Amino acid sequence: MRVARSIAELTGLRAEVPPGRRVGFVATMGALHAGHASLVEQARALSDTVAVSIFVNPLQFGPGEDYARYPRPLEADLERCAALGVDLVFVPAVGDLYPPGRQVSVSAGTMGTVLEGAARPGHFDGVLTVVLKLFNLVRPQVAVFGRKDAQQLACIQRMVLDLNLDVRVVGAPTVREPDGLALSSRNVFLSPTERALALDLPTALERAAAHRTLPEALAAAHAVLDRAGLDPEFDLDYLTAVSPETFAEVAHDAGGDVLLTVAATVGSTRLIDNTLLDLR
Ligand code: PAJ
Repeated sequence: MRVARSIAELTGLRAEVPPGRRVGFVATMGALHAGHASLVEQARALSDTVAVSIFVNPLQFGPGEDYARYPRPLEADLERCAALGVDLVFVPAVGDLYPPGRQVSVSAGTMGTVLEGAARPGHFDGVLTVVLKLFNLVRPQVAVFGRKDAQQLACIQRMVLDLNLDVRVVGAPTVREPDGLALSSRNVFLSPTERALALDLPTALERAAAHRTLPEALAAAHAVLDRAGLDPEFDLDYLTAVSPETFAEVAHDAGGDVLLTVAATVGSTRLIDNTLLDLR
């Protein structure tokens, strides 16, 4: 496994990849867990050379968010990448990726201003800007992103379409703990009682997914979340049914594929989750 700690090093290592080999790419902010590992495995299955980036992107954190305290266990992450058979790891420094004088960035448009984008203004613009830069540097044929961050995946797919990027973006299923909690680098912030409360997110989604009409699905999820909300440590932000491609909210009589998305702050940790509903 080769590790590039600067753009110059990455450019050199990327040039060594023979033209016929397909490069598969997984972008991460590190603190790697089994969710990230599943993306690497998927990238491996779809390509010849697997590249992973580890970069806590300041552009996608708002003021007062957890940029400073975001976990950065770099040595353990590199060991994990090596054990997963990653070929190339890119670990740029902030000043390398964002030199002084930066002006131009990507806008996610309206789909970046709803739900997570409403709670975190500028978040998806920051995500798309770094992902486009990483695509330009790593030049992958395939890039794998998790469906856990469904709005992020939708924004990236829209960027690829709107900016004619020559990369295939693949969505990978959400990896969960045995009890249902979606794996997240932020789960380490949860105390044992907060973690128990956080379980109400997957529970609510699971109950909803058992129904075939949207009003019934929403009512089933709300029954769980309203009970959770009695605890002052559980603060529901939204429970919304959207189109998985556009993230526009869907009508109550919607059928077909509808994504039910949920976000809550548990203690001081913001958690998101989603499930696909199969409506009549
Ligand atoms: P990060 O939160 O580290 O996630 C990196 C990738 O792992 C994303 O595609 C995310 O959707 C996926 N992922 C996270 N938890 C997962 C889970 N439980 N199951 C499956 N996939 C999971 O998302 C980011 O970083 C950043 O926004 C990034 C795209 C790297 C841009 O900075």
